[in-house]
This record gives sequence, C-alpha cells and structure tokens, in this order.
Amino acid sequence: MTFLFRSDAERGAIFAEAFAEALPDVPFSMDENDVAPEDVRYLLTWGMPDNLGRYRNLEVLFSIGAGVDQFNFDLVPDHVKIVRMVEDGIARMMQEYVLLATLALHRNLPAYLDQQRHRLWSPLPQMQAEERRVGVLGLGVLAQAVIERLKPLGFSLSGWSRSARVIDGVTCHHGADGLDEMLRTSDILVCLLPLTEETRGFLNADLFAKLPEGAALIHAGRGPQLDHAALTDALDDGHLSAAMIDVTDPEPLPEAHPFWSHPRIILTPHIASVTQPASAARTVIENIKRHRAGLDPVGLVDRRRGY
Ligand code: NDP
Ligand code: OXD
Repeated sequence: MTFLFRSDAERGAIFAEAFAEALPDVPFSMDENDVAPEDVRYLLTWGMPDNLGRYRNLEVLFSIGAGVDQFNFDLVPDHVKIVRMVEDGIARMMQEYVLLATLALHRNLPAYLDQQRHRLWSPLPQMQAEERRVGVLGLGVLAQAVIERLKPLGFSLSGWSRSARVIDGVTCHHGADGLDEMLRTSDILVCLLPLTEETRGFLNADLFAKLPEGAALIHAGRGPQLDHAALTDALDDGHLSAAMIDVTDPEPLPEAHPFWSHPRIILTPHIASVTQPASAARTVIENIKRHRAGLDPVGLVDRRRGY
C-alpha cells in the first residue's frame, strides 16, 4: 500500500519524515521507477502522470495544490477519490496576499507607483475602509479565511457562491441574480473561484461592466478565468481603476504581453499561496487515516461540480 510522492525532493523529504513517524506501515516513495505500480494506493502530485492507468490499485489521488483543474477527471477511474489540498499553510498565505492586495488597491498604491515613476507628488482623495465595499467571488475555504482577515479592518464585505451560505458580518449572495447584486456593490472584487467549465472566462467585459465606476480587481483564482483584453480595455477606458493579478494564462506571460508594463496592473507570478510541506503532510496523513477508517477525506472533490 505504497504512498507515491510525485513532486520536488525538498518537500518530499519533509513528507517522508512525517510519514515515517505517523504512518510507519505505509511505505513512502518519491521515485515512481522504484515502486511496483500495483502497490501504489495513494498518489500525491501536481500534474497527472500520463500512465495513471498502471496504478491499478490506486485509491486516492491527492493534488499537492488547492486546485484540481490540472487533472483530467475522465482519466481517473470512478472509484478513485480525488482530493484537493486543504491545509492551514495555503490559507495563511492567501490571507496575506489578499490583505496585501486589498490594502494596496484601497490606498491607491498602483496610482502612487505610477506617480513615482513620473516624479509626481500628488495626494489623491482617500475613502475610509468602512466605505469601501469588498466583494469576494467564491466563499470556500480560502475565501472564508481571507474574509476573516479582512473583517477587523472594517471593510464592507460581501461574497458569492454557488450554494447559499451564511457568514457572520458578510452579505452573502448566490446564483445568477446574487452575482449581479454583488458586482453592483463591489469596489474591490476578489476572485477566489476554482477553474471549472462554468468559471472559465468568467472575468470578462460583461462582468466588468457590472462593477461600479472605478472598481478594482484582485485575481488569485486561475489564469483562464480572466479575459486579458477585457481587463486592459476596462482599465484603459477608466471604468476599472487598477488590478492586482497573480494568475494568468499562459504562465509565465509572453515578453510582449501588455500586463507587464500596464501602469495600473500589479502582477505577481502565481505566488499568492504555496502549499506548505509540514502542514500539508499532516493533512494528507490525517486524510489517509480517515480514508482507512471509511470516512471521506477532507477536500474530497465532487467530480460533477469540478471542484
Ligand atoms: P473551495 O472549493 O473551498 O471553494 C470554492 C468556492 O467557489 C465555493 O464557495 C464554491 O461555491 C464557489 N464556486 C465554485 N464554482 C462556482 C460557480 N460556478 N458559481 C458560484 N460559486 C462557485 O476552494 P478553495 O477556496 O480552497 O480554493 C479556491 C481556488 O483558489 C482554487 O481552486 C485555486 O484555483 C485557487 N488558488 C490559487 C492559488 C494562488 O496561489 N493563486 C493558491 C491556492 C488556490 P459553494 O460554496 O456553493 O460550493
Ligand atoms: C494551488 C496553487 O492550487 O498553488 O494550490 O495555485
């Protein structure tokens, strides 16, 4: 019943140590050429191996990241559980990133960076946090963690999800009507949606047009959710004021891409959050124990929904 770790050796060493201590009866391997494929019960990976079918006794396919859009579900046998990474380290880093981005946009940082490049000293009008409306697309694990971090700053918070949710201190919306209402009242829009067929191309010209004049975007979901040209158009015609973008399609962007030099875009290279090996190993070990006890792992993916 081998656990096959298919990622970088540095993180693998931390996983190996945790497994040796907590699950000594589960052989741990970082080398797919060194295990008999039929022994592999658990596989942790980012990309899906071409030859997944050879692991014919596979029971759980773990993503090393929070997203599972990199997997082709059709190639994963029905009985294999697909599990995304739900661990504290990812949530903490995402909290930091969205806090950083929200404050940067709230305090007009892109405009001041541009002023600096032009040797211009010119204070802009400043709204108070209570007046600034922050809307979050997605109300899952990461979005809820982010919302908890934003609350003490006093922003007016709303969120949108597929199913109805109740979160203290947050105006929750769901479904198509709920989306329009949230967009209408979002000065800063944060995208933390998973990439599915429904969310591909979601951040487009129609959506931007529904945001208030001068709104700003934080995109930390997945690259293919954003229509790049629609964003630059909305920034250039002044409808949107600025954007902080962590994920693009492709990654990295080609050298001539307008995002590199756009004065009102702050671009980061998909670093909003990174799986932390020590806490991730604890999560995966707990999930194997749950699975062996006949319970669903935390982060079990619903294949029909795609996340
Ligand atoms: P969750 O599965 O916990 O949450 C997803 C949320 O999105 C849920 O609230 C869900 O609604 C909502 N949602 C999904 N599809 C729709 C839809 N069609 N309409 C409305 N709401 C929808 O995911 P996480 O919070 O753990 O992660 C979110 C994403 O963040 C990841 O999938 C990944 O793409 C991205 N990510 C980015 C990172 C980065 O570094 N930039 C790092 C880690 C993750 P409901 O609650 O009703 O199910
Ligand atoms: C993830 C990511 O999904 O790094 O964890 O984007």
